[in-house]
Amino acid sequence: MAPRRILLAVTGGIAAYKIPELVRVLRRADHRVRCALTAEAQRFVSPLVLQTLSGELVRQDLFDPGEENEIDHIGLADWAELVIVAPATANTLAKICHGLADDLVTAVILACRAPVLVAPAMNVNMWQNVATQANLAQLHERGVLSVGPEAGDLACGWEGLGRMSEPKDIAAAAELLLGPETLSGETVLVTAGGTAEPIDAVRSITNRSSGKMGFAVAEEAARRGAEVRLIAGVSALPTPAGVRRTDVQTAFEMREAVLAELPDASVVVKAAAVADFRPAEPETRKIKKESLTTHDRLTLSLVANPDILTEVCAQKGNRIVVGFAAESHDVVEAARRKIDRKGCDLLVANDISRADAGFNVDTNAVFFVSPSGEVEEIPLLSKRAVAAEILDRVEKLRQEQV
Ligand code: PMT
Repeated sequence: MAPRRILLAVTGGIAAYKIPELVRVLRRADHRVRCALTAEAQRFVSPLVLQTLSGELVRQDLFDPGEENEIDHIGLADWAELVIVAPATANTLAKICHGLADDLVTAVILACRAPVLVAPAMNVNMWQNVATQANLAQLHERGVLSVGPEAGDLACGWEGLGRMSEPKDIAAAAELLLGPETLSGETVLVTAGGTAEPIDAVRSITNRSSGKMGFAVAEEAARRGAEVRLIAGVSALPTPAGVRRTDVQTAFEMREAVLAELPDASVVVKAAAVADFRPAEPETRKIKKESLTTHDRLTLSLVANPDILTEVCAQKGNRIVVGFAAESHDVVEAARRKIDRKGCDLLVANDISRADAGFNVDTNAVFFVSPSGEVEEIPLLSKRAVAAEILDRVEKLRQEQV
């Protein structure tokens, strides 16, 4: 990728000690990096270190006449092609969300028109606080992207979500953001997550899909400039930036939402784990267990759900349709049979017997199977990278149509 101008805004958290490494990773990729620090950030990382590694003047104070003379803060905002806020504290996220500009970092961000990537880092309880989550959700809605945080031991002594992502992962997210908009003009319809089929008023049949794979496809498609409609089943994930989301529960609701969006869609990616069967007669009230003893059996009668992918393929037209296959054995052979049956342009088969692939993990290892039965093996990658591979194939299929 051609060198780009990246403004690294550093705020006051212990994770700031990793920022020199981030500067090195970005510089190694030939990007120009300028750093702006809050007063609190300077307690955790030395401006001199960042200046030495970046080879650029480090800005530290909004009202310093010398610094303003060298690069004024509006000039800095205009210079940046991308802003990375790392570590992004809960306080800074709140200030960016509410448009405050009471220090150098927030003033520059308010004046900046470039995309913003935040790498949150904080105590797990601060992260889970509804205020922080609401601020981040609003920022996502406005197009701010985020990477992390990760789970693990936190400097404060707690364990959980709150660790800043590793510098190489932040740099990878930045590279993705800076990439070209190769799907502009396309409307990509993505399904993600599992469906939940009610048994009674409180119980349902569902599966282990977290939505991570489908959300990664939606996020990457939006990054590539597509209009993205995401139909999400059961998933606790935040909506990726620039994506319009509809939440559903059952396979029937998913079918309805997909068919409603289909006329506008030029690409469909069906990563959702849709229940093949549902209870034939769900109880509207809770089934009481009082009358059952330990050895009693309760028989649940199931009926087949509609196959949404097959219905979409039946009205494919010029659309490019990508299906998934979750297989526990004979992965490739089962995928070949599935693409024949369903009629999509590409089938992404994952081996769900692997601990590092398939359901509810951050990585995936997949096979791409074409309608003619050709197979391409993709090694273990992050789900975001798998999403990029899928969309590369979608772009290739579109080019072949022209
Ligand atoms: O959400 P994650 O935790 O990240 O996990 C990702 C994943 C494992 C769920 C994902 O990578 C995946 O494999 N999704 C498809 C799971 C699935 O339902 O596979 P299947 O082989 O049963 O279905 C084949 C295809 O038909 C899928 O595209 C599915 O969306 C679709 N289908 C299935 C049944 C149905 N009634 N309607 C459908 O449209």
